[in-house]
Formats: sequence, C-alpha cells, structure tokens
Amino acid sequence: MNEKFLVGKVALVTGAGSGFGREMAIAFASKGANLVLNDINLESIEETRNIILKSYKVDILLIKADISVFNQVKEMRKEVFERFDNIFILVNNAGVRLGTFSLVTKEEGYNKVMDVNVKGAWNVTKAFYRKMSKQDFKPIAGKIINIASCAGTECGANPYIGIYSVSKAALISFTKLWALELGSSNITVNAICPGLFLTPMYKNNPEFIREFMKRRNVRLPIDRIGEAKQVADVALFLASPASDYITGQNIILDGGMTISINKL
Ligand SMILES: NC(=O)c1ccc[n+]([C@@H]2O[C@H](COP(=O)([O-])OP(=O)(O)OC[C@H]3O[C@@H](n4cnc5c(N)ncnc54)[C@H](O)[C@@H]3O)[C@@H](O)[C@H]2O)c1
Repeated sequence: MNEKFLVGKVALVTGAGSGFGREMAIAFASKGANLVLNDINLESIEETRNIILKSYKVDILLIKADISVFNQVKEMRKEVFERFDNIFILVNNAGVRLGTFSLVTKEEGYNKVMDVNVKGAWNVTKAFYRKMSKQDFKPIAGKIINIASCAGTECGANPYIGIYSVSKAALISFTKLWALELGSSNITVNAICPGLFLTPMYKNNPEFIREFMKRRNVRLPIDRIGEAKQVADVALFLASPASDYITGQNIILDGGMTISINKL
C-alpha cells in the first residue's frame, strides 16, 4: 500500500482535542492527510495541531464548534469548504460519558449524552455527506468512521453508564443505516467499538478503570488496558484502501472484554 495514501485528502475529526481524536488526527497526518480538527474546546485542538506540526507538514484547520448544535455544524461546513475541496474521512468521535443507571439519570444528563453522542454524529454526517458523495475519489468517494463503544454492543450493555450505553447502541445502528443509505454514493460507513482505554474520559487512570471492571466482574483475556494508538491504528485501516469493500461493520477492539462479560 502507498505509504502516504491520504495525500490530497482531508480528514475531519470531531473531538480532536483529546484522547482518541488527537491520536487519530496524528495517524491521518502521518499518511499525508490535511486535517480539520473540531472540538468544543479550542485550546485542546491548538495543542493537537502543535503536536502534529512538529512531525508532519500538513494543512490544518481548527474549528471550535459544539456538534450537538446544527447551526454550529453548518457554520463548520462553510469554513471547511472555504479552505478545502474535500472531506475524504469523517470521524464522528466526540462523545461524553455519564456514570449513572439509566432510570435515575436526570433529564439534563439524558439530553447531554444523547445530544452529543447521537445527535452530534447525525448533525455532522447530515452536513457533510452530500459533498462527500460528489467527490471524485475512486473507487470510494469518502469514508465515515463512527467511534461507538463496547457499551453499545449486545454483550457490552452496561447499567453503570446506562444512557451512554443507549447512545452508543444508537450510533451502531446509525452506522448500519448510513452504510445502506450511502452505499450507492460510494461512501463506506463503519464503527469502531473500543473497550476500556486510557484517555481523559477515564481520567487517564488505570486504577479508575480497574475499579470499573471490578464492579461488573469484567476480565480481559488480553489483560491490558487499551491505549489510544490502538484505536488510531484501526481508524487508519478503515481510512485506507485495504478496507474499501467493508461497510456497515462494527469493529470491536476490547482485548476480548465483550466475549468474557458474565462468562468467566
Ligand atoms: N476512553 C475509552 O475507554 C472509550 C471507550 C469506548 C468509547 N469511547 C468513545 O471514544 C470517543 C473519544 O473518547 P475519549 O476517550 O478520547 O474521550 P475524551 O474525553 O478524551 O475526548 C472527547 C473529546 O470530545 C470533545 N467534545 C465533547 N463534547 C463535544 C461537543 N459537543 N462538540 C465537540 N467536541 C466535543 C471533548 O472536548 C474532548 O476533547 C468518545 O465518543 C467515547 O465515547 C471511549
């Protein structure tokens, strides 16, 4: 495979100021992609940009926007196409987590999680798919990667993060729907479902994650907590020509956690 297979292509990553988003942006830049880095926190994407520019000569546009607000996403689209002529990779990565059982969650918490994790991804996809489908890249015009979670899978539904689980199940469902809706436009849509990874979402704290595992008696066949670079490596595969015939799929990346829950 061409070492710089993303040259001339632009990758838009939401939530690029932290964790997986930052790591995926670095990975895409390493293959020559120009970048649109979105986050609700501007300083965090400035930091991502500075890290990337130390190693790679790529063009980077920063956009502070709340993806749960469609007007802000529309404004983002305007800025993107004033600067670039394509979005080849769209990564719906931004997400928030809430550690409560679903039925005791307050309305505000429900709205926040669903607005960012579900409506946010829908907003961004809705804003960009038309332009992506008209791009002249062959055989695939564009690729959408949704960062869901094991918590949204059948074996991973997790009452300790109830509404979050529901939001990620919805994102997995959207992945299949969008793959069906956009297949004839030569856009692939796939999801990555990470298990337990060391990022700011888990306070970058392995003890916090181990405690979380203990509560549900979760064991990992590959007994290591994941690192963001592993998610970026799978995203890179989904961004590459090696995955051009894969769509509507959900890649579970969890050290075997979901095959073990309630089974060991
Ligand atoms: N860390 C894990 O173990 C894990 C496991 C499974 C899935 N995930 C998912 O991976 C994705 C990234 O998680 P992470 O661990 O890197 O989290 P993180 O908290 O480090 O990063 C999330 C980023 O999203 C941004 N963000 C939040 N709300 C936003 C909004 N409304 N608009 C734009 N940006 C917004 C945040 O500012 C932050 O920079 C999330 O969707 C998360 O649910 C994480």
